Amino acid sequence: SAAEKGGYDYFMLKEIAEQPKAVADTLLGRIDGSGSLTLDEVRIPPGVLREIDKVVIIACGTAFHAGLIAKYAIEHWTRLPCEVELASEFRYRDPILDAQTLVIAISQSGETMDTLMALRHAREQGSKVLAICNTNGSTIPRESDAVLYTHAGPEVAVASTKAFLTQLVACYLVALYLGQVRGTKWGDEIRAVIRDLSSISGAVDEVLGTMEPVRELARTLATKKTVLFLGRHVGYPVALEGALKLKELAYMHAEGFAAGELKHGPIALIEEDMPVVVVVPSPRGRSVLHDKIVSNIQEIRARGARTIVIAEEGDEAVVPYADHLVRVPATPTLLQPLVATVPLQVFACELATARGNEVDQPRNLAKSVTVE
Ligand code: G6P
Repeated sequence: SAAEKGGYDYFMLKEIAEQPKAVADTLLGRIDGSGSLTLDEVRIPPGVLREIDKVVIIACGTAFHAGLIAKYAIEHWTRLPCEVELASEFRYRDPILDAQTLVIAISQSGETMDTLMALRHAREQGSKVLAICNTNGSTIPRESDAVLYTHAGPEVAVASTKAFLTQLVACYLVALYLGQVRGTKWGDEIRAVIRDLSSISGAVDEVLGTMEPVRELARTLATKKTVLFLGRHVGYPVALEGALKLKELAYMHAEGFAAGELKHGPIALIEEDMPVVVVVPSPRGRSVLHDKIVSNIQEIRARGARTIVIAEEGDEAVVPYADHLVRVPATPTLLQPLVATVPLQVFACELATARGNEVDQPRNLAKSVTVE
C-alpha cells in the first residue's frame, strides 16, 4: 500500500532514501568513546582471529559486489590475503580451506541457497564462518559461527540498495576490527577511517539531495540499447553493481569493466553516443589511479562515447571530458563506494520507470533465491 511505501511510488525509492539512516544504524553501538571498535557479536575469540591466515568471502548478486569491495579493505588494513568467490561456484572448485581460514558469508536475506551450501562446505573443512546478514534469525546466521547484522531494516524491493550500503559498512567494520585485533602498521589510518565512517551517513544524505539531474539524464537515455560502466580499484565493483542494477531494473544490456582493461577488448564496443558511466577515484591519495582513469575517459570520448562521470567535489581534471558530471562528496578512496553507488541506483530506478517497467518486482527475479 501507499502507506507502507512511506509516500514513495516504489519501495525501491523509499529504500534508497533510507540509506543514510541504514548506514548510521549499522554503525550504532559498534564504535566506543575512544574511537575503537567493539564488535562483541563477533563471537570468534580474538586469539582465533589472530591465527587466521586467509579470508574468503562468498556471496551472490549485489552481496557479491559488496564482497569484491571488502577485499580491498581487508587486504589493505589486515595484510591477510582475501579471495572473493560467487557462492554458486565456490564448493565445486574444491577450494583450499582449513581452520586458519575465515570465511565471510554476505547475504541480505540469510536464505540464499547457493550461499548456504557454500558456507556448509566451508564449515565441513573446519573453517570459521562469519555471516554478514540483514535478517535476524535467518538460516545463514544460524548456521554460522558468528554474525554481524546489518541494520538496514526490512528490504522489500527485489533490487538491493540499502542492504548493499550496510553490507559495505559491515565489511569495513570487520576489516578494521581484524586490523585492530591483529595489530597492523595502519593503526593511525584505521582510527582515521573509523572517524570518517562516522560521518559517511551525512555524505550519503548529501548525494541524495543532488539526484534530480541524474533522473533527468536517465529519462533521456530510455531508448538506448547499451550502457557501459567503468571503474578502477573499488570503483570497479561499483561499476559492476551499476551495470547489475540496470540489467535487473531497466532490462538493458549493461556491463561493468575495469577501466584499465578497456584497451584489451571492450573499447571495441564503443559507438557514437553510447552512454558510458565512469566512476572516478579521488584525486587525493592514490592519484596514479585518478590520472589513469582521466586518460581512459579521454580515450572513450575520442571514440564517440557519451561520458557520464561520477567524480568527487573539487576534482577539476575530469571537467573537460565529462558530457555529464555527477558530483559526490570527498571521501577516503576505500569508502567512496558508499557515495558513488547511490547515483547508479537512482539512475537505474529512473530508467526502469521511464521504460515502463515494474520497479519493485522486476521480471524473472526473486528477492531471495532458495534453490541452487
Ligand atoms: C537475489 C536478489 C539479489 C540479491 C541476491 C543475493 O538474486 O534478486 O538482489 O543480491 O539474491 O541475495 P542475498 O539475500 O543472499 O543477499
